[in-house]
Amino acid sequence: MKTLIVYASVHHQNTQEVAKVMAEELGADLVLAAKAHPDTVMTYDLIGFGSGIYYLKFHKTLLQFIAGLSTVAGKQAFVFSTSGGGGTERHAAVKEQLVNRGFAIVGDFACKGWDTWGPFKLVGGTNKGQPNEEDLKAARMFARGLKEKYA
Ligand SMILES: Cc1cc2nc3c(=O)[nH]c(=O)nc-3n(C[C@H](O)[C@H](O)[C@H](O)COP(=O)(O)O)c2cc1C
Repeated sequence: MKTLIVYASVHHQNTQEVAKVMAEELGADLVLAAKAHPDTVMTYDLIGFGSGIYYLKFHKTLLQFIAGLSTVAGKQAFVFSTSGGGGTERHAAVKEQLVNRGFAIVGDFACKGWDTWGPFKLVGGTNKGQPNEEDLKAARMFARGLKEKYA
């Protein structure tokens, strides 16, 4: 299965670390949303969409990328993020857009990421050191699960 990961990571490259581990495990191509053309997804079977969370949303470059996607058939997608909170709550809007474009969602992954946004800056940030070894191991296991099931 040909796999692509499209991502945005502008704060501390937290999401990039996760994306790299997943790409390694899946043998996926890795591209920044800001540098990719939506038509690129057409040559892949499984596509991962990942971003840090900024003001409760995925980064605008990834949202713009998704907005530019055509309707697809027979393609699978997974969604991942890093954030201060570390949960998957903010994935819903993105998954809905992907489903509306014909993607089947096959997984979600989220973990905490070092955050020096706003007041956290004054105390050296929160989640310092994250994603840590454990987070990256979880990301690798998530990707391995996808590989075993879909690759
Ligand atoms: C401008 C800005 C806004 C943020 N907004 C949120 C937020 O709404 N919720 C949250 O949990 N984390 C928030 N964060 C923390 C980031 O999601 C977190 O640091 C993430 O790991 C950054 O990923 P990146 O290093 O890949 O850019 C924000 C960070 C920045 C810089």
